[in-house]
Amino acid sequence: MTQPFDPARYERVRLPLLEAETLPPACYTDPAFFAREMDRIFRVHWNLVCRADEIPEPGNYLAVDLAGIPAIVLRDDDRTLRAFANTCRHRGSRLLSGSGTAKAISCPYHGWSYALDGKLIAAAGMEETKNFDPTEFGLIPLSLAEWAGFVFLKFGAGGEEIDEHLGNLSGYLESHEAERMVCLHRRTYDVACNWKLCLENQRESYHVAVVHRGTLKDQLPEQLEAFGNWSGSWFRHEGSIAARLDAEKTLPPIPTLEGRAAEGTYFIGLYPASFLVFTLDCMWWMSFRPIAPDRTQAVTGLCFPETATRRPDFASVLPDYIARTDTSHPEDNRATEMQQRGLASPHARAGRFSRREAGVHAVDNWILDRVLDTGGKD
Ligand code: FES
Ligand SMILES: [Fe+2]
Repeated sequence: MTQPFDPARYERVRLPLLEAETLPPACYTDPAFFAREMDRIFRVHWNLVCRADEIPEPGNYLAVDLAGIPAIVLRDDDRTLRAFANTCRHRGSRLLSGSGTAKAISCPYHGWSYALDGKLIAAAGMEETKNFDPTEFGLIPLSLAEWAGFVFLKFGAGGEEIDEHLGNLSGYLESHEAERMVCLHRRTYDVACNWKLCLENQRESYHVAVVHRGTLKDQLPEQLEAFGNWSGSWFRHEGSIAARLDAEKTLPPIPTLEGRAAEGTYFIGLYPASFLVFTLDCMWWMSFRPIAPDRTQAVTGLCFPETATRRPDFASVLPDYIARTDTSHPEDNRATEMQQRGLASPHARAGRFSRREAGVHAVDNWILDRVLDTGGKD
């Protein structure tokens, strides 16, 4: 890819939707483009990591790799959520993997130990080391924020606060009271495609009648007015779209919903790489973690109001919600993996958009605003 960040290359992506071209195929395969996205997007913006109820108790932790950076999110002894670089201050070992519960964080290499607030509390064998002050060797803290029950992480100091990042998004979603929801079903998928394909796919309904034939009904959403780092749409309907099409019974609407939230579903692309669906009876979310230009980890969760989970019929209807999500996500993954294979061909060319792909156009232009050499916000 010659001069991959020259804005002149992308002039046609910048045109209005029905005149625009899609991103050049190399944006999905070129390691230099991927590296630029990591530097200018994922290492700068707030990244959705998990739901707060995934680490509910003191000592619960989750180790995640975001944009190639290992991080720890944990709940400390005072129940405060904290995030740290998952890198030992001695000689750099990764400290924790996966998830679990710990009283302290012990390095697997030489055994340095850190309290849950990040302080170095034991470093046996360092007694004779001159001018070694343990208070200077605590874990490196990372910025953490909580919104609607989601936990976000940001690398690097400064930049936007979470409220600036979200812009006017909260206004649309408040009446769902998502901070009181419980996440009951999680899945992680390894998808052999570029992270942008996962997000673009979620932001358009053009593929629904083909990819999800028999799984989902077609949806014709209208785009929302968005300020901040998101774009989204809303689709008017009645009844549940979250359960299997042939489910005999579904949950009633969430009682607190107001306005458009009570009349349909919000589909939100929350940049850089998450997707939220706030619908009449539940909420689901996806977070796409770039691993390589052609590899993405998709983490998903299905959440319900706590009150709904106490209904006597909840256990009997839940499997129909799980069946729907466990069918539709793999259908999307297969579609985007096929797309990646086609895009990697030397014969791949930029394409065109239908009127139903405004969300894809919005995602691609948000990315270009940040990665190109000039003309962007950074
Ligand atoms: S690298 Fe962690 S104790 Fe040595
Ligand atoms: Fe889909």
